[in-house]
Amino acid sequence: MWKYVAGTIVVGSVTYALIKYFAGGVCHCTTRLDGLVVVITGGNSGIGQALALELAQRDSLNNEFSEIYALVNNAGIFYHPQVLTQDGYEITLQTNYLGHFILTHHLLNLLKKSVHARIINVASEAHRNVNVYDLKAVTKCQSEFRSHFVAYGVSKLALVLFTKELSKKLLNTNVIVNAVNPGNVETNIYRNFPPLSNPWLYAIQWPLRCILIKSPRQGAQTLLHSLLTSNRSTGQYYSDCKLVLPSPIAANDKIAKEYYDLTLEVLAEWFTTESEC
Ligand SMILES: NC(=O)c1ccc[n+]([C@@H]2O[C@H](COP(=O)([O-])OP(=O)(O)OC[C@H]3O[C@@H](n4cnc5c(N)ncnc54)[C@H](OP(=O)(O)O)[C@@H]3O)[C@@H](O)[C@H]2O)c1
Ligand SMILES: *[C@@H]1O[C@H](CO)[C@@H](O)[C@H](O)[C@H]1NC(C)=O
Repeated sequence: MWKYVAGTIVVGSVTYALIKYFAGGVCHCTTRLDGLVVVITGGNSGIGQALALELAQRDSLNNEFSEIYALVNNAGIFYHPQVLTQDGYEITLQTNYLGHFILTHHLLNLLKKSVHARIINVASEAHRNVNVYDLKAVTKCQSEFRSHFVAYGVSKLALVLFTKELSKKLLNTNVIVNAVNPGNVETNIYRNFPPLSNPWLYAIQWPLRCILIKSPRQGAQTLLHSLLTSNRSTGQYYSDCKLVLPSPIAANDKIAKEYYDLTLEVLAEWFTTESEC
């Protein structure tokens, strides 16, 4: 009998320890953002929604907003059926990267008005799985399609490189910009991904997912941390509420500069005046 009791305790403790481990870092910052505006793209679902709720708990509900404190470029898609958008861009690159590139430049003036402003680009470890060749090929020729994983990886590498180059352009301003990896989170982002959108396959994986995958609230912790931490280093990559190194490509200043310029070329019609950059 005692063997079963001991066995249950051991299995229970190990499972609990694993769940805690994979839940990742927790943001312990107590900073409040009373009266400050945070713009979050994709705030109606998943990590963006969890972040909005966490932030709302830290505001006194004072509605007299005076300045934009932060822009969180969070909206994103994964494994979307291959298609070009109305604007003629590859859909994953446009949603995850190009749209945020334009939005960020349009909001820069408002962000610069704030005392301390931050931009957070929600990236992913998937940025490590693609090379410069894929990055440039997909960006130059938007109809270029290699795989859903490449499309997603490229869009996230693009965001980390953008973070680096933009941080340099904003060096002597009040605005810092960082990239964040939320970790693996249970959200709607997998709605098009067959192993998870199929209810039977999903059911088989469910017990493991309970241990390995973060809830949206847990997934929002590193975003929250990068928004609230007093550490104002810029152009960096956060994962599990810590600063870590992104891939060597993403950390390369020369590639970041070249890629920023390539993006401007691809988006030329959206940037008619030089002053916007
Ligand atoms: N979940 C993960 O495991 C994971 C891992 C690494 C990185 N991320 C990143 O985390 C971010 C948030 O994703 P999530 O996991 O929270 O997924 P989600 O629940 O699917 O949320 C994605 C959000 O983006 C919005 N969105 C999608 N396409 C858009 C468009 N064309 N224009 C405007 N908004 C659009 C969605 O709005 P609708 O619902 O209205 O479409 C939704 O609010 C994404 O950038 C994702 O790449 C997630
Ligand atoms: C931020 O944290 C990193 C890592 O802990 C540290 O090396 C760096 O000096 C800090 N930067 C600032 C500006 O506080």
